[in-house]
Amino acid sequence: MKKIAVLASGNGSNLQAIIDAVDSGVICGATVALVVSDRKKAYALERARQRNIPAAYFSAKRYASREEYDRALVTYLEERQIDLVVLAGFMRLLTPYFVLCFQHRILNIHPSLLPAFPGTSGVKDALEYGVKVTGCTVHFVDEGMDTGPIILQEALEVRDDDTVESLHQRIHALEHRLYPQAINLWLKGKIKIQGRRCFIDES
Ligand code: GRF
Repeated sequence: MKKIAVLASGNGSNLQAIIDAVDSGVICGATVALVVSDRKKAYALERARQRNIPAAYFSAKRYASREEYDRALVTYLEERQIDLVVLAGFMRLLTPYFVLCFQHRILNIHPSLLPAFPGTSGVKDALEYGVKVTGCTVHFVDEGMDTGPIILQEALEVRDDDTVESLHQRIHALEHRLYPQAINLWLKGKIKIQGRRCFIDES
């Protein structure tokens, strides 16, 4: 059994989708072994507790720098023999130290079709730009902001009457399906990385 750690700062609906996918067997060969948040009141922590998943709060205030924070977090993850780190609305940029320690073992989901609209307001930025099609992206994490090699993407159409909320809601529904799928591909060793390109072994 591989061990997944989910890092989340907020509501944790993607965390919930991942937990449910483990329960239903959509994700197989792994458990959600740990949930970590940088926000004490993140509902993601509550979701973890409800399912008896160890939940940890890592406060930025306790560390002098981003690197120190990441060193402590890496130690914590390694002590628990975490195989895969899944970012689900985690609002901190990982340092090169963290990325190196878990190279090709950190996934992120972003609510736009990258490389368009990276950053913390991807849905709003896409809507305000006036795109007709947007979606979500699962990618490996590197040192940049939403810049790592893309694993899966799925698109949806923007409606004339969409608000940021209505659009994000439909994107969330896509995310909840796509993220477990990508995690499963990783667990089965079906993602081959060549430079920036990821190829999915369909066999
Ligand atoms: C998602 O839209 C994800 O793409 C982005 O942050 C949001 C997290 O939502 N990275 P939730 O906390 O999983 O509900």
